[in-house]
Amino acid sequence: EFKMDSFRPGFHFSPPTHWLNDPNGLVYYEGEYHLFYQNHPFSTQWGPMHWGHAVSENLIHWQHAPIALFPDEHGAIFSGCCVVDWNDSSGLFEGHHGLIAIFTHADTYPETDQPRQRQSLAYSRDKGKTWHKYTGNPVLAEPDLVDFRDPKVFWHAESKRWIMVIVAGDHVRFYRSENLIDWALVSVFGQEEGSHDGVWECPDLFELPIDDTGRTKWVLIISIGDNPSCPEGSRTQYFIGEFDGVKFINDNSADHIMWLDYGRDNYAGVSWSDIPEEDGRRVIIGWMSNWKYANETPTGIWRGSMTLPRTLALSCQDEGVVLTQMPVREIEQLRKDLMSWSDVRVTAETPFSQKISDDLLEIEADIDMGSSDEVQIIMKSSGESETVIGYDSMREWLFIDRTQSGLTDFHSSFPCNHGASMSQENGKIKLHIWLDRNAVEVYGNDGLVVLTDQIFPDAPMDSISIITKSGQAKLNLLHIHALQSIHA
Ligand code: FRU
Repeated sequence: EFKMDSFRPGFHFSPPTHWLNDPNGLVYYEGEYHLFYQNHPFSTQWGPMHWGHAVSENLIHWQHAPIALFPDEHGAIFSGCCVVDWNDSSGLFEGHHGLIAIFTHADTYPETDQPRQRQSLAYSRDKGKTWHKYTGNPVLAEPDLVDFRDPKVFWHAESKRWIMVIVAGDHVRFYRSENLIDWALVSVFGQEEGSHDGVWECPDLFELPIDDTGRTKWVLIISIGDNPSCPEGSRTQYFIGEFDGVKFINDNSADHIMWLDYGRDNYAGVSWSDIPEEDGRRVIIGWMSNWKYANETPTGIWRGSMTLPRTLALSCQDEGVVLTQMPVREIEQLRKDLMSWSDVRVTAETPFSQKISDDLLEIEADIDMGSSDEVQIIMKSSGESETVIGYDSMREWLFIDRTQSGLTDFHSSFPCNHGASMSQENGKIKLHIWLDRNAVEVYGNDGLVVLTDQIFPDAPMDSISIITKSGQAKLNLLHIHALQSIHA
């Protein structure tokens, strides 16, 4: 019998037990990547939030650590960030440097019992092992705002200030500070811009180079919460523009919407702070679920996992500057056996078909669409489940069909077929797929289009076939890597 914990991911981060949602406090410090996360340590459903904690040297293998932040007299610990206070601008490190967490305290007004969200600090003098709440908490309150949460802080070298990006329902607010304790509002953005399908959550703001043009742009990431009238549920948009330490200016028109991921399961993603300049990359990780059904997914003693950590870049396309993403290079450490083919012709009657004995896979496929209308990569379990990744060459549409992917009936909006526009070049496309026991991540054309979806197959995957609907396509290159699990 296929046990419930068979959905435990082999190479995506998951909590040992109980509930996980947003990634929090992502910071690199003294050789360690920290991953904190929204955690309810007594249940597999959302509840009074704590910060769970894990540490890694390579972003792939994680060491679980004790809970870092517990609810206190100011309430539960909602999402937030960490920074390294290198020059002790807070005065909390007696002239040394250390870690500061900036997060939302969530409780209710004593008089009215209405929700209250205020920003607070905690600090660690021992590389994140033990944490102390700042005695002056909360440090930032806006009593007129109902939603006011998820602070993300960074050091803006040009203006020599700490900048806090934080959401307030339908807009993002920028505050600045010299000491991480006293904050002044400097501007707001977004009331009329982008998607407002749901409440704005979990912002991030950073600068990235554009290809190798020598120019840079600022990227503003905003997650938007679930809305009963949107089938997509919660998802993440981004803006490209300029930031001068005070104001964010959108390069695109107000109604132009860009999505980080076209799958259903990548939410609340934010990036690591303080990755050393020699490395220079901007790495993001998201919560691999969706508020539509997050509390009902059919996992065992744990619920919720993270996407793969991804390196972000900017690329110039016809429509303007866009974000691209690929899993961090460290993921290659997991490769073990490689099966490879080239120049394989497939039609509707003569599919490519391969039995597989590993269920943790990385698949690279360079496909010449030829005369075919649609190519499908079908991943079948030894039971009845199949998950389909397809490309429709007429519509230039990349999609995932998870309607038959296994356990789907825990929520009516889980079984679905959805996708994104992706153009072909001279009839060719590139797909790079990571298949885990609870999810599939599909990167099209070197990370220009990404789809991340949870799946819950009824049994381990045991075959892959590639087929057209009609006409002939050619697999110029096909690599199937079996991957090692990250669990010892
Ligand atoms: C996003 C979010 C945040 C909030 C946290 C609570 O998923 O709703 O806005 O801080 O989750 O767990």
